[in-house]
Amino acid sequence: LTGCVAIVVIAYLLGSFPTGYIAVKQLKGIDIREVGSGSTGATNVLRTLGKGPGAFVLVLDSLKGVLAIALVYWLFNFAANQNLIPPTVDAKLWQPWIVTLTGLAAILGHSKSIFLGFTGGKSVAISLGILLAMNWQVGLATAGVFAVCAAISRIVSLSSIMGAIAVPIFMLVTHQPLPYILFGIAGGLYVILRHRTNIERLFAGTEPKIGQKLTTEP
Ligand code: G3P
Repeated sequence: LTGCVAIVVIAYLLGSFPTGYIAVKQLKGIDIREVGSGSTGATNVLRTLGKGPGAFVLVLDSLKGVLAIALVYWLFNFAANQNLIPPTVDAKLWQPWIVTLTGLAAILGHSKSIFLGFTGGKSVAISLGILLAMNWQVGLATAGVFAVCAAISRIVSLSSIMGAIAVPIFMLVTHQPLPYILFGIAGGLYVILRHRTNIERLFAGTEPKIGQKLTTEP
């Protein structure tokens, strides 16, 4: 149990690592939270610094998610090898629940970073990394929904929202364990909630397309 609590806390701290904030601070000397959408995510880094730094932040933020889930697998393997799991505990049953809690903690960390006074991004890239590590088929299918929507609309936020809606559906149709389905619902809803201002702009017709600047500052 101590190990599981520790891994959830570590996942929150991992998620909190402010990749986008550090990149923009280092390369341009400004606080990314004061430009564009105010988000510390890859889309706002792309908007502020261009493709290279945007892709860099996208990859690193996704890796934070992969790493958080990999740590759970590692912990369970380690505990099993060391005979630390009591015979009354069904590790196979518990692992998906711990994966889910860890994933949600990492998502929360990314958007409410302890290193940035509980501000941050919209948790899209980190969610992709988490999904790929949980079930790569669901992760790839979600990335596919995002990519098709982005190719058609050229709007990242809309594509992220579509991806967030698709996750619980993919979890259900691929018969994932209950905690993964709940992860899809809770994580998806959270990511959509993080896009509140984007949704307002989408309805107002002012949401920028890829490569366009925001007309209203945060
Ligand atoms: O990944 C976040 C994206 O969906 C929206 O970002 O900066 O346009 O609000 P942004």
